[in-house]
Amino acid sequence: MTTVRTPPLFLTDVVIVGGCGRVGLPLGVALASRGLGVVLCDINAAAVQTVDDGRLPFAEPGAAQLLVVGTPIDEHLNPDFAAVPTAIERYAQHLRDGQLIVLRSTVYPGVTQLTERLVQRLGVAADVAFCPERIAEGRAMTELFELPQIVAARQARAAARAEKLFRHLTERIVQLAPEEAELAKLFTNSWRYIKFAAANQFWMMANSCGLDFERIRSAVRYDYPRAADLPGPGFAAGPCLLKDTMQLAAFANNNFALGHTAMLINEGLPLYLVAQLEARHRLADMTIGILGMAFKGGSDDPRESLAYKLRKILTLKAREVLCTDPYVRDERFLPLPEVLCRADLVVIAAPHPEYRDLTAEIPVIDMWGIAGRGVRL
Ligand SMILES: NC(=O)c1ccc[n+]([C@@H]2O[C@H](COP(=O)([O-])OP(=O)(O)OC[C@H]3O[C@@H](n4cnc5c(N)ncnc54)[C@H](O)[C@@H]3O)[C@@H](O)[C@H]2O)c1
Repeated sequence: MTTVRTPPLFLTDVVIVGGCGRVGLPLGVALASRGLGVVLCDINAAAVQTVDDGRLPFAEPGAAQLLVVGTPIDEHLNPDFAAVPTAIERYAQHLRDGQLIVLRSTVYPGVTQLTERLVQRLGVAADVAFCPERIAEGRAMTELFELPQIVAARQARAAARAEKLFRHLTERIVQLAPEEAELAKLFTNSWRYIKFAAANQFWMMANSCGLDFERIRSAVRYDYPRAADLPGPGFAAGPCLLKDTMQLAAFANNNFALGHTAMLINEGLPLYLVAQLEARHRLADMTIGILGMAFKGGSDDPRESLAYKLRKILTLKAREVLCTDPYVRDERFLPLPEVLCRADLVVIAAPHPEYRDLTAEIPVIDMWGIAGRGVRL
């Protein structure tokens, strides 16, 4: 176990397990900024060293200056219930009567109860609460203080203690039962994932008859609150949306047609793009550039980015595939000017601000509309 520079133990208010991750670190910084003594605990020694040197292991605007381990799904899209109980067992010797254990990770429904039972079995009289993280990467240091905090516990005392903790960040607290909160978090991400799929399917429909979906979308949303949250088209990717939609599908015994359809549409977008390009270009004679490899614009996070899937497919079809990204460090990536110089056509795969109003002699495929010329293919 590796820990980061720590206040004297008697001044420690919060220990964040997974504290050098994308959720744990901003949360730790936010709580510390409100005067709490925070210890970040992480098994990733490199990330611990980086934080201990006073640097961030990733970009999170405003953070530089809390149990949040990853809860992945496996290669068969099945949830892995073990991540949280495994972490609890790993630190069992450090658990004490009277402590409050807060699960912040996005857990599979039932894992809070599993944790309550595990703590009991370990013979520790500790309170357990589930308080899901709802920030979006890149906005953590503002959203942690602005978003209402969902606080859930079976015992009133545990709920009161968790509420007291998050009142350091915001006065807006929503109390739920653990099972309600577990579903609330999965519904939140699945709803977002489904909205993106709807936008992507509308975009495909508009493309099929040569129309610009962005023109249509801005007309639909203009002063019309009922469509205000219709997103634009683009890769719906990253570490959470697909994972949590599949967690919900597994919980519903795979009876989640909307979620599965959203996965087929969103995960199928790179294939759709390449098929459209193939219909218009002899890819085998072309060098294709992919601009942006992160899972979303302005981010340095490549996790579950569909840009890599696009690269994989294009590698089979095109003469050469070149990749670039201003934030994601990878020695295989090239500087933007070189890609624009060598490529016959480029695809904007992540809408980084650097690509706003991009000018190029070659065709620019821009499903995000960030280059300011609509999204029609
Ligand atoms: N990234 C997001 O935007 C976001 C937003 C909301 C919720 N979440 C949820 O928060 C959780 C964490 O996500 P993340 O993006 O921060 O993941 P992450 O991989 O960036 O961070 C997890 C951290 O936990 C550490 N870790 C794993 N097992 C450990 C252990 N046994 N002991 C100590 N440290 C351990 C890892 O080294 C890593 O640094 C997930 O459940 C995710 O679904 C993520």
